[in-house]
Amino acid sequence: MTDTTSNKMWGGRFAAGPDAIMEAINASISFDKRMAAQDIAGSRAHAAMLAATGIITDSDADAIREGLLTILSEIEGGSFEFSAALEDIHMNVEARLKEVIGEPAGRLHTGRSRNDQVATDFKLWTRDQLDAFDAGLVALIRALLGQAEAGADWVMPGFTHLQTAQPVTWGHHMMAYVEMFGRDLSRVRDARRRMNESPLGAAALAGTSFPIDREMTAKALGFDRPAANSLDAVSDRDFALEFLSCASICAVHLSRFAEELVIWSSAQFRFVALSDRFSTGSSIMPQKKNPDAAELIRAKVGRIFGANTALMMVMKGLPLAYSKDMQEDKEQVFDAADNLMLALAAMEGMVRDMTAQRDNLAAAAGSGFSTATDLADWLVRVLGLPFRDAHHVTGALVGMAEKAGCDLPDLTLEQMQSVHPEITNGVFDVLGVENSVNSRMSYGGTAPAQVRDQIERWKEILA
Ligand code: ARG
Repeated sequence: MTDTTSNKMWGGRFAAGPDAIMEAINASISFDKRMAAQDIAGSRAHAAMLAATGIITDSDADAIREGLLTILSEIEGGSFEFSAALEDIHMNVEARLKEVIGEPAGRLHTGRSRNDQVATDFKLWTRDQLDAFDAGLVALIRALLGQAEAGADWVMPGFTHLQTAQPVTWGHHMMAYVEMFGRDLSRVRDARRRMNESPLGAAALAGTSFPIDREMTAKALGFDRPAANSLDAVSDRDFALEFLSCASICAVHLSRFAEELVIWSSAQFRFVALSDRFSTGSSIMPQKKNPDAAELIRAKVGRIFGANTALMMVMKGLPLAYSKDMQEDKEQVFDAADNLMLALAAMEGMVRDMTAQRDNLAAAAGSGFSTATDLADWLVRVLGLPFRDAHHVTGALVGMAEKAGCDLPDLTLEQMQSVHPEITNGVFDVLGVENSVNSRMSYGGTAPAQVRDQIERWKEILA
């Protein structure tokens, strides 16, 4: 539907409209309409400022405000007709404003450019996402704290190389993820603080000769201050890159936990039972209950990190100030944000609903010679052996138990003494998994008392 006789937007300079292919590559309305509310908020702040500084009349500003509110309700109600010929959300809204209020619409773009406009809209949109990200993390952390509190002293195997290493507590394992998502939260808050400067009023790139008040528009839009360099303001997309970086790291954390849930819910492990609400069945195998949500969360990191990489490459090597390349910024962020919020919500739901299989965890905790380190430590502490010798003696006892097909606590004192004659009955105290975890009282260790301290600390942080 290309109009070749005139141009809808810049008729003054252009004798012909764009080729259909040009319109297809150029138009962003199909996706940037998601920023309609932010675009209208930015325009309202700008119009109010233009009136307050005497650049336009109050009656023009009133007409603009009323017209923008009408357009917002048309968009929210679904009756607004978006046009690719009008390129993007900014031109679509402005063209409609002309239809709704007539002549004053043409005054809205005074002292402003689409370059500062789009930077403002996108920043406002991304800021909302950072707030949703923050809320999603807090909800997930609370769900993890609930699990940790319920099972602060439930024993389970701790792993290295996915081989049984030492007994830990369920609460301790949950709290490890609280720390990870807590760092994500601090990154999000840090990014929000840094990004909260207003690009509006930077105009095309050099600022404007109109006596605008950038403090006023910044304040109206909830920014802490106006961005201090107009060239930077229109060409900065760090806020989007930081959002994607925070999202990527968080998605990595989500994928690690998702992987554990996949393993833990398997018939071989049976460490957790996922709820029906967060699992699926199989169309052919009636016995199956699949951890699909966990698998999908595990996969989401791919597209989220892909978005991060893509935008880094879009921005790489761009000269100052605005280049149209930067229109390619939005879809990446939109997609990453949608999928991140979904993954966070799904993980929170799964964590709230899942049931730790306490008996299975305990049974597994004692297997695999998980208290071998406790035995070695006992030899050091009680018999005064150097740790390397104790390691060697313990290794021989593990070998003996392995051959006998039993666990360490099942060896008799005589068997133990055949390896080291000074071993006494006291050794059996440290071979139990409960004693093992209770003894790990170093700060940040797995002892239930330590875990409960950390739960309290986090509750205070979130309060
Ligand atoms: N749709 C454009 C974008 O997303 C708006 C800015 C256009 N500016 C320009 N100088 N052509 O970046």
